Amino acid sequence: MSRIKDPSRAAVAAADLPWLRRHIPLTAVAATRLGADLRGRVIALCIHLDLKMVPVVEALLRSGARTLVLGCNPHTTRDEVAAFMSEAGAEVYAWAGMTEAERGTAMAWAAGAGCEFISEIGGDFTSVVVEQHPHRIPPLCASMEATGTGIARLARLSLPIPVFNWDAVTIKQGLHNRYLVGLMVWHTFMSVTQLTLFNRRVAVVGYGLVGQGIAEHARTLGARVIVSDLNPVRQLHARHLGVDVVALPEALRQAEVVVTATGRDGVIGPGELDLLPDGCILANAGHSNGEIDVAALRAFPHTSLRRALEEFTVRGRRLYLLAGGAMLNLAAGFGDPYDAFDLTTALMLSGIAFMVRRHEEFPPGIHVLPAEVEQEVAALAAAGAGGRA
Ligand SMILES: NC(=O)c1ccc[n+]([C@@H]2O[C@H](COP(=O)([O-])OP(=O)(O)OC[C@H]3O[C@@H](n4cnc5c(N)ncnc54)[C@H](O)[C@@H]3O)[C@@H](O)[C@H]2O)c1
Repeated sequence: MSRIKDPSRAAVAAADLPWLRRHIPLTAVAATRLGADLRGRVIALCIHLDLKMVPVVEALLRSGARTLVLGCNPHTTRDEVAAFMSEAGAEVYAWAGMTEAERGTAMAWAAGAGCEFISEIGGDFTSVVVEQHPHRIPPLCASMEATGTGIARLARLSLPIPVFNWDAVTIKQGLHNRYLVGLMVWHTFMSVTQLTLFNRRVAVVGYGLVGQGIAEHARTLGARVIVSDLNPVRQLHARHLGVDVVALPEALRQAEVVVTATGRDGVIGPGELDLLPDGCILANAGHSNGEIDVAALRAFPHTSLRRALEEFTVRGRRLYLLAGGAMLNLAAGFGDPYDAFDLTTALMLSGIAFMVRRHEEFPPGIHVLPAEVEQEVAALAAAGAGGRA
């Protein structure tokens, strides 16, 4: 039984699906390979409820799995997608703008629904089951996590089940995180602000794979890029590419645009806000909505100027926040393009199939999703499934 905002919105998502379906050949093949192992199993997805996740949910339903769907970030949940998934047969407990308390109730519901496998983004649901509902293990057997933020969080727990890290595989890190996020962060930046990056001083905070892609795409769009990262290896990497590396306070003093991509909360806190020059635009690409301390900003006078663009007056300076500090490309944009994300959803489905079939071979704790899974997907792509190799 779903809990969603408005079932009648399913038609909005349905109208958009034919074009998506024409551009996801790898996901379509991965869906046919799920096999009989999923029949009757209970699988929970805690994901961005974005249209591109519909084929994943449909594939699980077609394989006979009972499919529970939760939102991993209330800023990225699309109500029409929740409605469509529910109409398709999934049990969805999510709507746009849910409070944390409502998300807690949703997760308690899913934990109590006999969930056996989890595939999620951000680690929230696995953490909640392990910490708050340990009597639900079993039936919970295994979990799969898609982000570095989620893996860091789960690594701090004493995990009673195997958790497969599919953030660390090459397709996810090297192609998705490294290239697609940067591309789409700036695409969304331009559509929200109607500004270019020409000759703008852009500070990228956090130079992991995501930050690297953001910095590189900014440079190709005409920005003057500076980078700040706490990790000296990452600093060195940036220097070898000719990117200016400075300490965070200096980066903020110079920045006309700041993008955070650290996966940590409170990176831009009250003290950092005081360093930013008049007119500075702030955006976040990391998984957490708290990288920029939005509560600290909201203590100052503010107004909404356009969709996803707010102005704050902070001690006489005007600062601008995009997408309320949530992941810019997903909260204010459309995330990744359909054809490119095909690789990611194909990998997700193949990973779920692997987890269900093989989890008993793995002891409790975190395991990088074995290379054979991504190699199967990459081989499909390289062989030209869908004609675009
Ligand atoms: N927007 C998207 O669509 C999208 C897609 C994939 C991943 N992500 C998220 O982006 C974030 C970054 O991912 P990643 O794979 O690059 O992570 P990562 O852990 O490899 O890199 C993060 C970097 O931030 C640095 N850092 C941490 N705290 C810092 C601070 N206070 N100041 C400066 N640097 C700091 C770390 O040293 C590290 O090098 C994660 O939260 C991830 O979940 C977002």
